[in-house]
This record gives sequence, C-alpha cells and structure tokens, in this order.
Amino acid sequence: MARILGGIYTSHIPAIGAAIAKGRQGEPYWKPFFDGYPPVREWLDAVRPDAAVIVYNDHGLNFFLDKMPTFAIGAAPEYRNADEGWGLPTLGPYAGCPELSWHLAESLVADEFDMTTCQEMLVDHAFTVPMSLLWPEPERRPPVVPISVNTVQHPLPTPARCFALGRAVGRGIASWPEDIGVVVIATGGLSHQLDGRRAGFINREFDLLCLDRIATEPEALTRYTIRDLVRLAGSQGVELIMWLVARGALGGHVSKVHSHYHVPVSNTAAGVLVLDNEAA
Ligand code: DHB
Ligand code: FE
Repeated sequence: MARILGGIYTSHIPAIGAAIAKGRQGEPYWKPFFDGYPPVREWLDAVRPDAAVIVYNDHGLNFFLDKMPTFAIGAAPEYRNADEGWGLPTLGPYAGCPELSWHLAESLVADEFDMTTCQEMLVDHAFTVPMSLLWPEPERRPPVVPISVNTVQHPLPTPARCFALGRAVGRGIASWPEDIGVVVIATGGLSHQLDGRRAGFINREFDLLCLDRIATEPEALTRYTIRDLVRLAGSQGVELIMWLVARGALGGHVSKVHSHYHVPVSNTAAGVLVLDNEAA
C-alpha cells in the first residue's frame, strides 16, 4: 500500500523562475524569499518520495477558455513545458508515472469525481517553478502525477469540493498496492490580484490565518465561497483551492515541519508550508 509522506504547499510566481534562471537567489530582493526553501529540501531529502502528486492550476498553456476542465489528471509518460510569454527558459521534460495516474483516475471516477484524463499535457509555470524550487537538480525529481484545477474561467470549484477531491486523492493513493512513499504538492497563492482596480492587493492577516488553518483546521477554510476568497485574497488568491486539494489528501493528523511567508514577490504574497503525515 502506498503511504502519503506529507504535503508541500508553495506559491508559483513566474518571476521566481526568472530569478533562478539568472542566478539571483542571493540578491537582496530575492534572498528573504529563497531562504524559505532549504528546510523544504531537507525534509524531502529525509523522506525521499518515490512519486509526487502535484496539484496546480494551468493558466492558459494547456487548457484555454474554449475548453476548461474543472479537474484534470495527467496520465502521460512525460510532461513538457512550453513558452507562456513570461521570458522563462523552457524546462523539463518531467517524468510521469502513468500506472499510478490511471489508478488514481479509476479510483477518483469510482469515487464520483469525474476527472478529465490527459495523455498529453503541457505543464506551465505553476508546475515548473515549484519543481525547480523543490528539486533544483532535475535528476533527483520523482515521477509525477499532475492534477490541474480550474482557477481561470468561472465557475470555479468550491473550496469544499476541492477538499473533498483531496480526500478522494488520499483514498486513491492508499489503495495503490505498491509500497511506495508519495508526497502531495499544491501550488498557488497566497493573496494576490494581478489586474483590475485592486491590482496589487495583499491580505497578510488572511494569509497567516490560511497558513495556520491549512495545518490545524483545514475544514474551517472549506466554509468560504469562491466569492469570499476573491474578496479576502484577491482574484488570483483563489489559488488557495489547490492547497485544499493537497491538504484533503493527508487526512486528519499532521505535524508542521516548516512554514515561511514573504511579501511581496512580484505581485504576490509568497508562502510555503511543509506538513509531515507520518510523524503525526
Ligand atoms: C504572478 C502570480 C501568479 O500566481 C501567476 O500565476 C502569475 C504571476 C505574479 O505575482 O507576478
Ligand atoms: Fe498563478
């Protein structure tokens, strides 16, 4: 039976990818942000996951407004990146684990989460930036199962539905017969709004509440509506729903290994959190 080792929750801002590409991690603007990541990599070195389920939101690279699945799961042998126009180098490819993907797709659909299955799927900055932060050396990356959640075109799935999907992902991983360790990763958030009258909006108080409640009382966050999240965290701050999917997968008892919060990176409040599922 596969074991869920823990969860990692991180922002995914394209400017981070540019800073990595240009070797700017030590510069005054960037150091306080990048200082949040060595403890994450130390935890990964200790638990050594065999596979990663990565819950992220495609921003228009693979899915566009004409066809927008609410929940999609990759079932490809590898995942490629492509130019999104941010000026980032094209990274990857990233190894998939199609057997685990198909097992999860079967298990999720049987559990009444009707996923779109993708045997080809381009992955955008919401996937590549966290991969570079967590495993700077490509050869150390475990194979991945990507799960994409619509945060681009309303209607978006509710926070409660995302948490319930996470619960089902957890059951699917637990029913995989091989004895492997799996880490579940969420990308996105924390508060940010990129356009409109409130562009640049940050809500530190709400972000710190989320960083705490994701660990201790995630159900409390499922009471918000999408409109509540837009109001409290900004129109892109709704990316918190990926954190709810990944938190749902872990179950009730977790222990907090590390958390870090830094404002701003580009237009965003950057947060990172590591929860251990086994030490709990
Ligand atoms: C930024 C943040 C995001 O979440 C994103 O997807 C793109 C850009 C930003 O703050 O620049
Ligand atoms: Fe984003």
